[in-house]
Amino acid sequence: MSINNLVAARFGLPTDIGKSVEGNTTIENILSHRSHRAFKNETVPGDLLDTLFAAAFSAPSKSDLQQACVVHVQDPEKQKRIAHATATIRWAADAPVFLVWCGDSRRIRKLAKWRGHEFANDHLDAFMNAAVDAGICMQNFITAAESFGLGCCPVSEVRNHIELLSRELDLPQHVFPVAGLAVGWPLQESRISMRLPMAITVHTDRYNDDNLVEEVERYDYRREDIEQTPPDEQRYVEDLGVSTSYGWSENRTRQYSRPARNDFGRYIRSQGFNLA
Ligand SMILES: Cc1cc2nc3c(=O)[nH]c(=O)nc-3n(C[C@H](O)[C@H](O)[C@H](O)COP(=O)(O)O)c2cc1C
Repeated sequence: MSINNLVAARFGLPTDIGKSVEGNTTIENILSHRSHRAFKNETVPGDLLDTLFAAAFSAPSKSDLQQACVVHVQDPEKQKRIAHATATIRWAADAPVFLVWCGDSRRIRKLAKWRGHEFANDHLDAFMNAAVDAGICMQNFITAAESFGLGCCPVSEVRNHIELLSRELDLPQHVFPVAGLAVGWPLQESRISMRLPMAITVHTDRYNDDNLVEEVERYDYRREDIEQTPPDEQRYVEDLGVSTSYGWSENRTRQYSRPARNDFGRYIRSQGFNLA
């Protein structure tokens, strides 16, 4: 597919974007990204996996502090305990590779002690920088993995049972999980997930969301055209009833009408972070 066709498929809109751009496999792979949650029962060779880790840690890093790490869960029983703790991610128990990407502010604090320097940046930025580094490394891993035909799915639901996860991984103070990542050879081709139009995600010179509702309404229709949610799969029908129009915005605002993981701040503080 041409770059232009890939962009059109990503946003579900006819567009001129990419018409004058010569394609390459990197941009084609990125535009074709889709998450995978079902995998063939085939292993991922160790050297390939190590190569993907090398790609992951080639990501840029805030101040070159390199505050990400990853736990490769190789014990199948541990993987199962983590996945089965949350009903909606039981599928992750069968992923041939299961990783947990973590923010790691421990390393620099330990090294500060070793070097005999005060650690004078014990505030929210320390948490944020480590979380961002971990996210960027995970994405580099995903992009590299997909270039070999592997499929991945990040899994933040592993944080639903944060104490269990932290205990399973033996995470010390100032290390925290950002997301799990299931990896394997895809069982089937999955569908492109349409993105919000760039009219609301790309701003020029200043932030402006005046057209948010109109744009999202049209986006909802475009998505509903290809992915209808059956009434019995709508969220919280018992309280909110069945919506005749159940697009992305109805689904996601219903999702966020209920608290989830509201113990995470307490956990992060208990890992020693000062979030002031
Ligand atoms: C940080 C992060 C956490 C995610 N956590 C989950 C998860 O817990 N469960 C899940 O099924 N998908 C999870 N996903 C995958 C998203 O649902 C997926 O990226 C989104 O629906 C868009 O689909 P696509 O990746 O196929 O384009 C996560 C993605 C990200 C970036």
